[in-house]
Amino acid sequence: MPKLLILYYSRTGNTEKLAKEVAEGVKTGGVAVTLKMITEATPEEAVGYDGIVMGSPVYYGSMSAECKKFLDESVRFHGKFKGKVGGAFATSGNLAGGNETTIMDILKAWLIHGMIVVGDHQGDHYGSVSVGAPDKRAIANAHRQGQIIAELLKKLAGEK
Ligand SMILES: Cc1cc2nc3c(=O)[nH]c(=O)nc-3n(C[C@H](O)[C@H](O)[C@H](O)COP(=O)(O)O)c2cc1C
Repeated sequence: MPKLLILYYSRTGNTEKLAKEVAEGVKTGGVAVTLKMITEATPEEAVGYDGIVMGSPVYYGSMSAECKKFLDESVRFHGKFKGKVGGAFATSGNLAGGNETTIMDILKAWLIHGMIVVGDHQGDHYGSVSVGAPDKRAIANAHRQGQIIAELLKKLAGEK
């Protein structure tokens, strides 16, 4: 069974809540998932997973310093993430407060690592987003994101 690592940073709980909903979707999709606060994870351990999804609060239109630190430290393993699945999600304080720019910044790093990124043609296209704590809409889209990523992981692993 493929293994997915969900890393998030959260100071006031919104991103942590969204992370748990993405994880629910992944589990429903039949993939093993590990959920971790990013400050408790290392790029070295991430190498042992088939996919990595990163969630961040929006800080001035981009990811938190904790998420950026993880990515910058991942350079020591450049090449080792090639072909893994990458994803991102974000929470903000305001509508149009930077969720999409934050997600794209994380996805850019995954692409630079040579990872595979998948969108959602119906839900939150780039990755799930929430303004404040996740509401019904955000929860549904987080589940969709988790399931889409699980489907891709299984396909890449040659599973149905
Ligand atoms: C330093 C800082 C910068 C922030 N910058 C933005 C911002 O640019 N746009 C926005 O909409 N919200 C901004 N916020 C609000 C957070 O993104 C929002 O409250 C988020 O949901 C917090 O996530 P958390 O509960 O997981 O910590 C900022 C908050 C902090 C503390």
